[in-house]
Amino acid sequence: MKRSTLVLGFAFALGLAAAACSSEDNLQNGEDPAPGPQTPSAPAGSNDPRDPLQEILPDPLEGLPKGQEQLARVCARGANNRVTQRLCANPSIDSVEKLQEVLGLGFRNRSENGQNGGGGNPAFALLGHSSSLVARSVSAINPRAFVFTPPPGRPQRLPGWVVMGFARGEPFVEIAAEDAQTRAPAFYLLKFEIACEADHSCKAGDLLTPAVEKGWKGWSLYDDEDLKNTLVDCRHCHQPDGPGTRMMLRMQELEDPWTHWFRSDRPGGAALIADYLRAHGDKEDYFGIPAAIMQSSDGRAMEDFVKGQGFANQPNVFDSPRIENEVRNSSRAQPETNTPKGKSQTWQRLYDASFTGRFIPPPYHDVKVTDPDKLGFATEAYARFVQGKMSASQLPDIRRVFLDEALTEMTMRPKAGATGREVLVQTCAQCHNGKLDPSISRAKFDVTALDTMSPAMKQNAIARLRLPASDRRHMPPALFRTLPADALDRAIAELSK
Ligand code: HEC
Ligand code: HEC
Repeated sequence: MKRSTLVLGFAFALGLAAAACSSEDNLQNGEDPAPGPQTPSAPAGSNDPRDPLQEILPDPLEGLPKGQEQLARVCARGANNRVTQRLCANPSIDSVEKLQEVLGLGFRNRSENGQNGGGGNPAFALLGHSSSLVARSVSAINPRAFVFTPPPGRPQRLPGWVVMGFARGEPFVEIAAEDAQTRAPAFYLLKFEIACEADHSCKAGDLLTPAVEKGWKGWSLYDDEDLKNTLVDCRHCHQPDGPGTRMMLRMQELEDPWTHWFRSDRPGGAALIADYLRAHGDKEDYFGIPAAIMQSSDGRAMEDFVKGQGFANQPNVFDSPRIENEVRNSSRAQPETNTPKGKSQTWQRLYDASFTGRFIPPPYHDVKVTDPDKLGFATEAYARFVQGKMSASQLPDIRRVFLDEALTEMTMRPKAGATGREVLVQTCAQCHNGKLDPSISRAKFDVTALDTMSPAMKQNAIARLRLPASDRRHMPPALFRTLPADALDRAIAELSK
């Protein structure tokens, strides 16, 4: 292990020298930048918090305008919702808290008497495992957090609602907001700039601690139109039926006990909160959510919000009560102890449906997605950081704590033993299918129609598979998943037919 890490580090260090020669002009001319990250990177699909190198992913927004120029583009489209109303004036925003204030989602009462969704506070909920864009960042010690227009304790329509989501690690906030008149939801990505990005020196300590939530140097706003053919496209998940259909809010675990959502009086939610607190303690705010009230995170608030806005019908919905029961019956120490893994037939049906490319991947069947040993290592390090006994620069990558044997079921790896065709469908169809807007280039690679695909397009796909994962054009995007060598070979063999 150690030796291969060193060799890789060396290879990328050479890549650094090459990248340094490529000028900014190359990018503006639309030429491709030299492949390879600027600093040594851990291997793609990295899942080891002990690896001192951090995995560096390609910039999904490369080539798009930034700052005011980009804001003008978004605002010229004429959407009318809380995001455009507040952000088109180009206010100065340098932190999560400031962003929340600007969007009308600031916490008025940060004391322990403060409420989740009451007394002037927005509603909030934290999630210990995500099946979204940031799936590879999220576990109980690096949760995804949501702050949103508070529902009144039951599903109710909230005209002009707004919701924001964030997990530490990616320097962006995801936002959705509704036009109160037309009721059309729109999706936004607010990319914020942090100092270490300027010289590509970002480390775990910059990205995975409270530091990432403040001290922003600037921000850029993108909407789902700008992002439709990028690696951070929102529509393939939030508009699953394709162009012309209404965009939707997603919550796969919509029912009590909301399996991966923090909630102190449900066994799963409580186990996740306990893992979170062991690392972060009870004094650290997370995504602006005050530490004093963090433990009142509530999956039900999110359920009420999502249902109240008209999204009660979720595709391939995760039946939380049934799946949690089946898992506990198969492995009695669940949910606190997730090894051995649990089993659930109900969950298996969801997985099988997504395997054939009809749905995005469902969340994992067990409450915890973490490897106890890796989690222990990352927790100890983070707790030492919180106590001031470890400097931020020494902090390991606390995102890399997944249970290796769960990676296939979390779909970060393809199903073991899948044929080449199955690998392609499972790992590409969510972004490459027959329901896409035909005007975007990636629609030309429709993996559900391999039999009628031109040999040239198949060659194109093989070339994409063979690019280094640090290249933005590499497929599948490492932000989502990586193919082990044997699966890659089978996929290429299928495309060579
Ligand atoms: C791979 C699928 C996927 C992609 C791509 C995706 N999302 Fe989501 N999103 C989800 C899921 C699933 C949830 C529910 C919570 C979770 O699992 O993290 C969610 C939740 C959200 C929420 C909270 C409200 C809700 O719908 O529950 C917002 C806001 C959001 N996403 C915005 C975005 C934006 C903006 C983009 C594009 C920049 C985006 N998402 C891309 C799957 C996705
Ligand atoms: C998360 C979404 C996502 C997944 C998963 C994904 N792709 Fe892509 N793919 C894209 C996007 C976005 C583009 C367009 C941008 C670009 O050309 O790089 C693209 C472009 C492509 C293209 C170029 C099509 C053309 O002619 O312009 C090919 C080929 C391709 N992908 C193959 C694959 C293969 C093979 C897989 C699975 C192993 C895969 N992709 C998985 C998002 C995805």
